[in-house]
Amino acid sequence: MKSYDPFDFPRPIGLGVATAPTQIEGFETQNSWYDWAKIPGKIADGSTPSVADRHWTDFRENIELMDQMGIRYYRLGLEWSRIEPEEGHFDKSALDRYREELKLLSERGIRPLVTLHHFSNPSWFERRGAFLSDGATEVFLRYVRYIVSEISDLCDEYITINEPNVYAVNGYLYGIWPPGEKSLSKALRVMNRLAICHLQAVLAIREIYKDRPVQIGYANHFRIFHSSSGRTGLQARLIRYLFQDGLTRFMTTGRPSFPFGTFSGMKPGTYCDFVGVNYYTRSKMKGFRELPVPASKPRNDLGWEIYPDGIRLLANKYHDLYGLPVWITENGTADRDDRFRSEYLYDHLREIALHCPSVERYYHWTFIDNFEWAEGETARFGLVANHFQTQERTIRKSGQFYSGIIRNNGASAELISEYIIPWTNKQNI
Ligand code: BGC
Repeated sequence: MKSYDPFDFPRPIGLGVATAPTQIEGFETQNSWYDWAKIPGKIADGSTPSVADRHWTDFRENIELMDQMGIRYYRLGLEWSRIEPEEGHFDKSALDRYREELKLLSERGIRPLVTLHHFSNPSWFERRGAFLSDGATEVFLRYVRYIVSEISDLCDEYITINEPNVYAVNGYLYGIWPPGEKSLSKALRVMNRLAICHLQAVLAIREIYKDRPVQIGYANHFRIFHSSSGRTGLQARLIRYLFQDGLTRFMTTGRPSFPFGTFSGMKPGTYCDFVGVNYYTRSKMKGFRELPVPASKPRNDLGWEIYPDGIRLLANKYHDLYGLPVWITENGTADRDDRFRSEYLYDHLREIALHCPSVERYYHWTFIDNFEWAEGETARFGLVANHFQTQERTIRKSGQFYSGIIRNNGASAELISEYIIPWTNKQNI
């Protein structure tokens, strides 16, 4: 029988929330995701990111809610297509709007961690072949230099690129995201190019900050890969290397290993100030095939296994490998009816509190229900529920639980008895 002991965080930890611009802002139609969502059949419910949570106009209301919940760390993204709507032309009004948001965060004492690229590209960049096109690194760096120079007085923490592996695999290998290609060699080339963009962006940002402190990393999607036997077999190891380990080594140290980064010309060094870990689930493999998660296991609304041990295994592994602090840049679950999110939070945060001394930050994915890429508005990851038609926002019970954890620096017996219902009382899991 599982026990629910109270716990405290024995070391300081920043507990926050994460979002991405395409998923919440709305009112932007000149990017790859809006173009993709308009193609019939690409998004589960036929929705597009054109309205989402109206965060572009309603950001004050959302930040007010964050403040009410006691959230003091916020990972937010900037939409490249707004900032550079035409190649080489920067839109001052978009910059001003982002500056306003960053200023409001600072007034409320909420520390921003800014993501520069989170899956979506300006339509003009996508049309020219995105990261596979000639000169793509320079084009990306021009955007990075512009925006970072313009906000460096309001922010000193950055994620260069979100999940280069997922962007490459979904868009170029499985073809389920833009641009819908199915080619392993292209997927590997895209990962390589994104890695080089990250490495160069780190140098560019450090140059902008000169002697001022700045923390930079990227957010990788890390999974646990187990063979069906529960161990990590040969094929699972190969997939793990191609999907996450080889890329992480290159992007963290500038040292390439086949098939990444050969002839990149990058000098070995430290290209991350923290290891950014986005963690959701474990993949059980039979050979090279991923097995469905049996109904007897805890699963979320998308059928992803809930496997809290994974957060400990990954955080400790990457800390030991690179000697850097770990920031959990995303962790969360799709739970439309909020039946198990509180328990999910409890289990993952407990692992961190008791077993992961290197974890300095934890950003829950996500603050508010959003446009969940190919799943559209069907998958609900928010601590805050949003009714997309009326835009009515309600803090879920799990949001109240997280808020309690932040205020108590841990999960007290009172919080546990108020918010956690044991798995055994739940149905359909
Ligand atoms: C992405 C988010 C996404 C989340 C849940 C991560 O891969 O960075 O944008 O919404 O997973 O699917």
